[in-house]
Amino acid sequence: AVVPVSAGRRYAWCACGHSKKQPFCDGAHKASAPDISPLRFTPDKDQTVLLCACKQTKNAPYCDGTPIVQNCLYNTCYHSYHVQYL
Ligand code: FES
Repeated sequence: AVVPVSAGRRYAWCACGHSKKQPFCDGAHKASAPDISPLRFTPDKDQTVLLCACKQTKNAPYCDGTPIVQNCLYNTCYHSYHVQYL
């Protein structure tokens, strides 16, 4: 998902896939995936970034271009985000 971010602002990227506000955490992990925490990051400049929405990236919170794989639990939900911005 391509999103604008602001320098110095703290963001919480959803690592569990349950958030309704992808690619950001909305607190849903507390009930749906209590063992997973959001990845917090603070950009050092205003910019537009490509954040992973399918949760298969090896470079969280950023998309690394990982192809959608068959075992991606979030394939259906987030495939369009991923493909659209590759
Ligand atoms: S809702 Fe997914 S990490 Fe918080």
